[in-house]
Amino acid sequence: MGSDATNDLNKACYHDASETQLRDFYAAKASINTNFDVPSIPPTIPKVYQETVARFGKGTAELAISHFQGVIQNFFVGLVGAKRVLEIGTFTGTSAIYFANALKRNGVEGGPDASGNMPLVCLDISEEFAQIARDNFEDAKVDDYIQVIVGDAHESLASLEGQQFDVIFIDADKVSYTAYFEAALEKQLLAKSGLFIIDNTAMKPAVELIDCPIPLSKDTIPESALSHENINGYRLFGYPIHEFNEHIRQDPRCEAVMLPIFTGLTLVRLLDNLNN
Ligand SMILES: C[S@@+](CC[C@H](N)C(=O)[O-])C[C@H]1O[C@@H](n2cnc3c(N)ncnc32)[C@H](O)[C@@H]1O
Repeated sequence: MGSDATNDLNKACYHDASETQLRDFYAAKASINTNFDVPSIPPTIPKVYQETVARFGKGTAELAISHFQGVIQNFFVGLVGAKRVLEIGTFTGTSAIYFANALKRNGVEGGPDASGNMPLVCLDISEEFAQIARDNFEDAKVDDYIQVIVGDAHESLASLEGQQFDVIFIDADKVSYTAYFEAALEKQLLAKSGLFIIDNTAMKPAVELIDCPIPLSKDTIPESALSHENINGYRLFGYPIHEFNEHIRQDPRCEAVMLPIFTGLTLVRLLDNLNN
């Protein structure tokens, strides 16, 4: 989702655009406020997209969230008045730069708090991505908001026990979504009244399992899924995301809602009396 939502359609193709495309385009433009000291769209983000593509190839900027998604996520960060955010899956830094700006807008100062913890903690398994992200954070003048922890998020999450975050964004390997969610709950990483934002929950391979029951077994996987040319799409994304969606839908500890925007964005809040 890396392209600029406001550039996805240009005037020349307005007449060819579907009503849905036009509505998306109009909504994206109408959501970009122009009256903030901290701008809706961080000025260095286009450069992050360009350099990501130059370095890793065409289409790789789509691993990052789009401008429109950044603007929407920041609205949620503002809504819960977040002071601390945890990001699982950072890549070259786009969503983190958005989050840091949202924290700034919430009045959060850069630098460590009294316990030595930074406002935004970013987890990624790749040292290469982490170093690029750090450079991009410096460029965006948000490096004093962010601690990057390199390693497998399963282990990094365990190391955060004792800390709390107002927003937890899950956007790493899809196979591990349920494990990350459970680890965050078990370690009580989400503050009371906090919010999980989980990306890609309506990715195409998951959506195609629409009638597929849980638990999944070879017998219950629909023929259409097995004959799909991109079978890895189902294994890597479809099944684990579908299982995760069912997992949280049936979880009495939380309330979940999936927004059918981008490739699916799920919001989860804990019900009262948890993490008191
Ligand atoms: C979709 S990208 C994240 C995009 C990022 N949120 C953005 O908007 O730019 C997923 C990231 O998850 C990381 N990742 C994959 N498996 C991981 C794991 N087990 N632990 C931590 N990070 C992981 C990848 O290295 C990759 O950078």
